[in-house]
Amino acid sequence: MNYATFFCLLMLLMGTTMAQTKTFPAASALPEQKALPDPLVMFDGKPVTSKEQWVKQRRPELKALFQHYMYGYLPAAPKIKATVGKSFNDALGGTASIKEVTIDLGKVGAPKINVLVITPNNAKAPVPTILGLNFCGNHTVLNDPRVSLNPNWIPTTQYCPGVVNNQATEAARGKGIDSEWGVAQAIARGYAVVTFYNGDLAPDTPDFTRGVFPYFSATNATKETAWGNVAAWAWGFHRVVDYLRTDKAIDKTRIAAFGHSRMGKAAMFAAAMDERIAMAFPHQAGMGGTSPNRGTVGESVKAINDRFPHWFNDTFPLFNDHTARLPFDQHSLVALMAPRPVMFSCAVEDTWSNPAGQFEMLQAADKVYKFLGVEGLSATKMPEAGTAVNSRLGYFYRNGKHSTIGEDWKAFLDFADKHWQTPRVK
Ligand code: GCU
Repeated sequence: MNYATFFCLLMLLMGTTMAQTKTFPAASALPEQKALPDPLVMFDGKPVTSKEQWVKQRRPELKALFQHYMYGYLPAAPKIKATVGKSFNDALGGTASIKEVTIDLGKVGAPKINVLVITPNNAKAPVPTILGLNFCGNHTVLNDPRVSLNPNWIPTTQYCPGVVNNQATEAARGKGIDSEWGVAQAIARGYAVVTFYNGDLAPDTPDFTRGVFPYFSATNATKETAWGNVAAWAWGFHRVVDYLRTDKAIDKTRIAAFGHSRMGKAAMFAAAMDERIAMAFPHQAGMGGTSPNRGTVGESVKAINDRFPHWFNDTFPLFNDHTARLPFDQHSLVALMAPRPVMFSCAVEDTWSNPAGQFEMLQAADKVYKFLGVEGLSATKMPEAGTAVNSRLGYFYRNGKHSTIGEDWKAFLDFADKHWQTPRVK
């Protein structure tokens, strides 16, 4: 390479770096921190000394750091318009009402979010809500022939049976990875279940020409810090919360975000970024959600970026072989929830998501909860399989594999009952 070419390349590199690093240094310039970075120390090394400083400085700084180096920047909230479509009051053997709501994101041609709202019929007041993101369409969560089949592209993976040419068929109803959600349990215990499909926001493919990507981007995002799918799905949570806060059947102070696995990563990020979400159930979320980036068990940062290059931003892969350079770990994402309750849930056979590492993230987040004057994690070691830790930082560990089953939902509802003092309907 001659000098002129080298100089041009250098300028180009510097230009990119400068655009990307208005506030934060390039990944390669970050110092190595083998131990977990302290959530109560500012990026410039100064300690956080008051609750006010946490809320006004450190919490926004951590939110920016996670967006900058990992998930990508979230666009500003658009003004949404929600339209109620079909509704029935005799679902689940007459115990629940269903309505379908379409959220228009306010830009011509942009995708719409199809929301399924399932509420208990015997409610006397607005109800607490589990808002969950699904993998394969709302019609897979509840087997009721009146629920509309999702019209959008759906993957043909083993997670989503009954899909032909990437379109849902009748055979998909109530089938697949989302089929064992505890909807009936939740309804019986006085909770609403609200759900939407990830592909309405961003199809789960490395293709940024579809979904919300052509229509929305953060004004401060560069190519390296533009949002990936996990952020787009999380942003979907925020838009559904925009709607739920206007729905009189829903208690807007008691909305929990739920998601399994990759949807759990989105649920965790969504809840961490938005205080309107009062609780989180990132179920078996693992790498990129609830397990340590610095961990050595199960999925690694490199493995997730290699297989799913569209989930995070284009800066995160720069940490593939340098996880110690990350100025945070996932305990700080949990700390962003403080003082709100959050429960991690894991399964014995799901070693890919590093259950012990997830517990360590809760242990490391505990100091922020204590700093804010509330209980954090009450357990000093991982519970036995089949038991739950129900402190404000909660942990449920069960036998079995990577899946969502009724036992998980029972643990979520027990946890929500405790922290929200929800009276049981029966
Ligand atoms: C893969 C991926 C995980 C993810 C999981 C899922 O196993 O490696 O990170 O959580 O898929 O979404 O089911």
